[in-house]
Amino acid sequence: MPAALQAFAARHGSRDPAGQPRRVLVPGCGSAHDAAFLDRLGWAVTALDFSAGAVDSARRNLGDWNGTLVQADFFAHRPELPYALVYERAFLCALPRKLWPDYGERMAQLLDAGGCLAGFYLFGDELKGPPFPIVRQALEELLAPYFDLEADEAVADSIPVFAGRERWMVWRRR
Ligand SMILES: C[S@@+](CC[C@H](N)C(=O)[O-])C[C@H]1O[C@@H](n2cnc3c(N)ncnc32)[C@H](O)[C@@H]1O
Repeated sequence: MPAALQAFAARHGSRDPAGQPRRVLVPGCGSAHDAAFLDRLGWAVTALDFSAGAVDSARRNLGDWNGTLVQADFFAHRPELPYALVYERAFLCALPRKLWPDYGERMAQLLDAGGCLAGFYLFGDELKGPPFPIVRQALEELLAPYFDLEADEAVADSIPVFAGRERWMVWRRR
């Protein structure tokens, strides 16, 4: 599991002050290894992907877990309650750039005030993809209207194709 996610989870804890599991969304979950990790820690996890193949693979991986696995488009996902956390890993960079303008607003709608959008962002200016890296100014334009940047750290344990190009970020919903 990525060190930054482990540290974040250890710092924040999986329960709110009332003792209820905190709700977390993992959009574009793929095979859902990170979702399984958060579930084991006691978070109330919704893992979402629009690909039937990804959802099958996630289902096999997750086995008997406590969370919810949803096959849906992130942009159409309308949960009954907002989330305390959205965990981003290789999701924005999987989206065609024409969908990026809606990413920040959608994330903001999904989170409680004070909630976090936390995870890994791939930086660069190559046009061809996927993955589609983003330049810093473009990411700020997507997120700064709704979020304050709280953490922005180098990542030492990236997979080789992302090495030196991704950063761990925590954006706090205003
Ligand atoms: C590069 S994979 C990342 C998987 C996983 N987060 C990881 O780090 O291993 C991106 C995933 O996002 C999913 N995806 C892309 N666009 C989506 C959308 N609009 N709604 C839901 N899932 C989407 C893809 O099906 C794919 O499984």
